[in-house]
Amino acid sequence: MKWDAEKYTKNFAFVHQYGSNVLELLDLEKGMNVLDLGCGNGALTGQIAETGARAVGLDASRDLLQVARKAFPQLEFIQADATDFHLEEKFDAMFSNAVLHWIEREKQPRVLQCVKAALKPKGQLVFEFGGFGNNQLIHAALERILAERGLVYKMPFYFPTIGEYATLLEQAGFRVTYMTLFDRLTRLNGENGLADWIHMFVQSPFEGMEGTDKEQVIMQAVDLLRKDLLRDGIWYADYVRIRGKAILEETPQSPMPGCEN
Ligand code: BEZ
Repeated sequence: MKWDAEKYTKNFAFVHQYGSNVLELLDLEKGMNVLDLGCGNGALTGQIAETGARAVGLDASRDLLQVARKAFPQLEFIQADATDFHLEEKFDAMFSNAVLHWIEREKQPRVLQCVKAALKPKGQLVFEFGGFGNNQLIHAALERILAERGLVYKMPFYFPTIGEYATLLEQAGFRVTYMTLFDRLTRLNGENGLADWIHMFVQSPFEGMEGTDKEQVIMQAVDLLRKDLLRDGIWYADYVRIRGKAILEETPQSPMPGCEN
């Protein structure tokens, strides 16, 4: 995934603005350390640091980390892949906003193994990302238009249900203490808000396609979605979020009710 760090920071600030609420799920005490997994431009790493915790950001994108380091020169940022990171330091908490949907289903257990290895016992994992049904209208429109051209739209994201993601967490040795899935119709910026969103976030399905063909597909999708996602001249995206908290602590094996003896 190639990030246009400047455009991302300018036009898609809502990504970290919404993430502020998620921070409230962290139970932080003075002196704790927190890893911001997929910190992007570091906006939320900075907010974590404001609580008095020692915040460290980790991201795979050199371009986004450059923005983060410039904005928060006093903080530490590490360039690493969320599916394959190994840290010397152990953390009290791990925080991740709008990141985990970028990682394919098969690699999700690897992320959780890396998270687990970097957490102290009873460490917290607090997260929000795209949940089941996220941007369904947008992906369905792109799928339909590509199908009309004889092309297959390969869904590039992971949007799990609560049941699926809670199971992965439990299998990795976490106790899930909170999880919710909710719709969040999200206002996009500018009169080309939806086209800009598709350009920024949906890249791999267009790989190998001529630039002009891609433009046509996006224009067709925008036309198709106008009736659902344009309201009073403002574009929206049909976001669905999965948000939760888990503690690194094996779930006790409870007996089935009625089978205690
Ligand atoms: C999300 O934040 O849910 C998201 C953003 C871009 C692409 C896919 C999902």
